Amino acid sequence: MDNGTQAGVFSVTTPTTTNIVWHQAGVSRQERAALRGHGSAVLWFTGLSGSGKSTMANGVNGELHRRGIAGYVLDGDNVRHGLCNDLGFTDADRIENIRRIGELAKLFLDAGVITLTAFVSPFQADRDRARALVPSGDFLEIYCAADLTTCERRDPKGLYAKARAGEIKHFTGLDSPYEPPQSPELVIRTGDRSLEAGIDQVLSALEQRQLIPPLAA
Ligand code: ADX
Repeated sequence: MDNGTQAGVFSVTTPTTTNIVWHQAGVSRQERAALRGHGSAVLWFTGLSGSGKSTMANGVNGELHRRGIAGYVLDGDNVRHGLCNDLGFTDADRIENIRRIGELAKLFLDAGVITLTAFVSPFQADRDRARALVPSGDFLEIYCAADLTTCERRDPKGLYAKARAGEIKHFTGLDSPYEPPQSPELVIRTGDRSLEAGIDQVLSALEQRQLIPPLAA
């Protein structure tokens, strides 16, 4: 059975429940891309809290929107208000959080959307699992590189101060680890470069991969 491999996204794993049969979609990913005039990809932003993941993802998405390209930001703080509101910040909960987002991003990819995820996603193994869900080349791991001192100085939500005061446990970078990406597609120096420079870096990468058309000169 061809389980949607024509669409280039889906491979089949066995569900734990029984009597579940894969339903073949009537419109392929390629057909959606042809209709829209651009490709889709998962742009996986990772970095410490306060490193600028959400700002960067929203900045890129804003520029995509201006160019008429369908993009969508899945943001850690927002997703934790709904889909993942049963999860906290233990290692096990973070693993489950990232597993769900990986699966969600895979659906968005198939929907033909440039999908930007902004999650701390501190563990390399979890990011690798999210990458493995989609065809090779469709996943760009983007490291928002800002060191702990810079993020803590910014402390946009006052969370580092609370964590230092012992009011928040398992805070990434303090009493919970962060594993920097081993081989990210992009490193954005969000600690010491401008937002605009970072946005340009991501858009250039998308143009180079022919996922989006270049801006007309
Ligand atoms: S992840 O580790 O599971 O990927 P996620 O990105 O969803 O984390 O959520 C991180 C956001 O939740 C941070 O940007 C911060 O605003 C908030 N937060 C609250 N508690 C913590 C914590 N213990 N560690 C990290 N971030 C936290």
